[in-house]
Amino acid sequence: MSSDEHRDLIAAAKGAREFAVAPFSMFRVGAAVESDDQRIFTGCNVENATYGLTVCAERVSIWKAISEGARSFNRLAVVSDAADFTPPCGACRQIIWELCGDIPIILANARGDAQVLQMSKLYPHPFDSRSLKVRKKKP
Ligand code: THU
Repeated sequence: MSSDEHRDLIAAAKGAREFAVAPFSMFRVGAAVESDDQRIFTGCNVENATYGLTVCAERVSIWKAISEGARSFNRLAVVSDAADFTPPCGACRQIIWELCGDIPIILANARGDAQVLQMSKLYPHPFDSRSLKVRKKKP
């Protein structure tokens, strides 16, 4: 899919960005994730005075999708106010990888450009359930 084919998801992410709660960073982010049954779930970043409790737009969109029963995903878009693309942070990469798998991530900037990156390229050496398979000790 070219970035043009992701216009719907980018528009949904842009809309969500308007709801961002970002009084500390003033950096508004919107995300939209599409489930395999074509439902679109949006999220915005929600900051907290303790800073560490801030949740990124990507995770908010995924939490919403999961809590509405979605379990399989096609693609996720991220839009911020920045002129540059805003790739998902490390915590979000882990969550996207575990809950959405190797999906395309569509990054769109304030100028209207977009770039599509596969999750396996953004997070090439992930820790996931396969990493938990501990080898049995020899008796
Ligand atoms: N943020 C996101 O929501 N998504 C990203 O991909 C990068 C960062 C938020 C977290 C915080 O509210 C603000 O942007 C500045 O880091």
